[in-house]
Amino acid sequence: MDHRVVIVTGGAKGIGLACARRFLKDGCSVVIADHDEEAGRRALSELEAFNDRVRFFACDVAEKLSVHNLVAETLGAFGRIDVLLNNAGIALKGGVLDLDDGDFDRVIAVNLRGAFLVSKAVVKHMVEEIENRDDRSRLTDRPYAIVNMSSINDEVAIPDYLAYTISKGGLRQMTKAMALELAPYGIRVNGIGPGSVKTDMLKGVVGDEKALGKIHARTPLGRIAHPDEIASVAAFLSSEEASYITGQIIYADGGRLALNYTMDPADLDNTET
Ligand SMILES: NC(=O)c1ccc[n+]([C@@H]2O[C@H](COP(=O)([O-])OP(=O)(O)OC[C@H]3O[C@@H](n4cnc5c(N)ncnc54)[C@H](O)[C@@H]3O)[C@@H](O)[C@H]2O)c1
Repeated sequence: MDHRVVIVTGGAKGIGLACARRFLKDGCSVVIADHDEEAGRRALSELEAFNDRVRFFACDVAEKLSVHNLVAETLGAFGRIDVLLNNAGIALKGGVLDLDDGDFDRVIAVNLRGAFLVSKAVVKHMVEEIENRDDRSRLTDRPYAIVNMSSINDEVAIPDYLAYTISKGGLRQMTKAMALELAPYGIRVNGIGPGSVKTDMLKGVVGDEKALGKIHARTPLGRIAHPDEIASVAAFLSSEEASYITGQIIYADGGRLALNYTMDPADLDNTET
C-alpha cells in the first residue's frame, strides 16, 4: 500500500482527474483542489470507491488565502503532504495585437503564479518535516516530489495563445530553479509537457476535422493523447522509480517536438481522435 498524500490542483476534470484516479489506484491518498465546485462534486462521486482516501477542497490557486486554506485542510485531513501536482491551468486566446490585458493577467495568475503559490505553501511544510529529522534519514525515507503540468508550449509557441505560451515557458524555468533550490532537501521537482490531450481544453478542436487534421499532421503517433497517458507520467515522476530525476520536463507529445516539417497525409490514414 502506498501511503503518500498527493495534492492535485485542477484535479476535478481532464488530465488532473485522470492523475487523481491514477494516484488513488496506486494506493495514495488524494486531495483534489479545484475552483470548480460542481466539477469537484462530480469527481468525488465518480471516485466514491476510494471514499476514505479522497477529498475535494475548493481552491483558486491564484488566491493566496485560498491556497493557505488548501494546505491547512489537507494537513487536517491526512496529516502530511508528500507530492504536489501543479496541474491547474487555463488558456485564453489572443496574441500581442489583440490579447486583452485582463486575460493576460488571469492566465499568468493561474498557470504561473498559482503554481508558485501552491508550491511555496507546500514546500514550507515539506522542509519543516525534513528539518525535524536527523540528517541520515533526510534524503531517503520520504519521496517528496513536485510535478508541474507544463506543455510542449514551454518549448515551441502558439502565437494566438501568447499568455499561455509565456506561462508555460515560465513554468519550465520555475521547474528547473526550484529543482536546484530543493535538491539539498531531497525534494525532486519535474515537469510534464503534454502535446494534445483529449480534455475540455481541446473541445474546440475535437470534432473539427480541419483543426484535428492540423494536429495529426504535426503528431507522428497520429492521434491525440488520452488523459491516462499523461497520468502515467505523473505517477512515474512522483515515484521512487524516478528517484534520480530532478529538474527535467518529460514531453508526452506523440513525437511532436522531434518532428521537422509535417507528416505525410498518406501516413495518417489510420488516425483516430
Ligand atoms: N489538454 C491538452 O491538450 C493540454 C496540453 C498541454 C498541457 N495541458 C495542461 O494540462 C493541465 C490540465 O489541463 P486539461 O487539459 O485537463 O484542462 P481542463 O480544462 O479539462 O482542466 C483544468 C482544470 O483546472 C481547473 N482550474 C482552472 N483554473 C483554476 C484555478 N484558478 N484554481 C484551481 N483550479 C483551476 C479547472 O476547473 C479544471 O478542472 C493544464 O495546466 C494545461 O495547460 C493540457
